[in-house]
Amino acid sequence: MKGVGKFGEVMASDKGPADYGTATEKLIRIIHSGSRPQAILDFVVRELRKFPHYNWVGVYLVEGDELVLAGWSGPAATQHTRIPLGEGICGRAAQTRETVVVGDVSTEPRYLECFPNTRSEIVVPILRDGLALGELDIDSDALDAFGGQDRAFLERIASEIAKVL
Ligand code: SME
Repeated sequence: MKGVGKFGEVMASDKGPADYGTATEKLIRIIHSGSRPQAILDFVVRELRKFPHYNWVGVYLVEGDELVLAGWSGPAATQHTRIPLGEGICGRAAQTRETVVVGDVSTEPRYLECFPNTRSEIVVPILRDGLALGELDIDSDALDAFGGQDRAFLERIASEIAKVL
């Protein structure tokens, strides 16, 4: 498949400037395409990974009292495939049901390291009827990589994903 290498990695040539409007339209079309949830999640993580500052993109789903990795795109696998609710930045976002943005992971005591290159992270819960079904988790190699536009964009995408899970 074009643009997908080892582990579903997106090739450097497929990365382009972040165009939030175009990406939102494309993602919403796919999310509501009627495809199976797993196929949708696999597409979403690969598509998000095309943004230059999104170095690793994962989606976790809540299963009981854990988050379980359901799909990812990036240069390497994470050892954190299951995260107890409440642990790490991921567990906190699921528990509080609020987006968590950490501009400098080295200052965050709860941070669970996946990749030595990661400098900042955003975790956006996928909410339906006030319940966290899962979350989008994005790591960046740049400090303070995630701003208001990323947050609004990812919250919109998460809200659309919630409708098809
Ligand atoms: N850093 C996350 C763990 C998941 S990895 O980034 C893939 C955390 O602190 O919860």
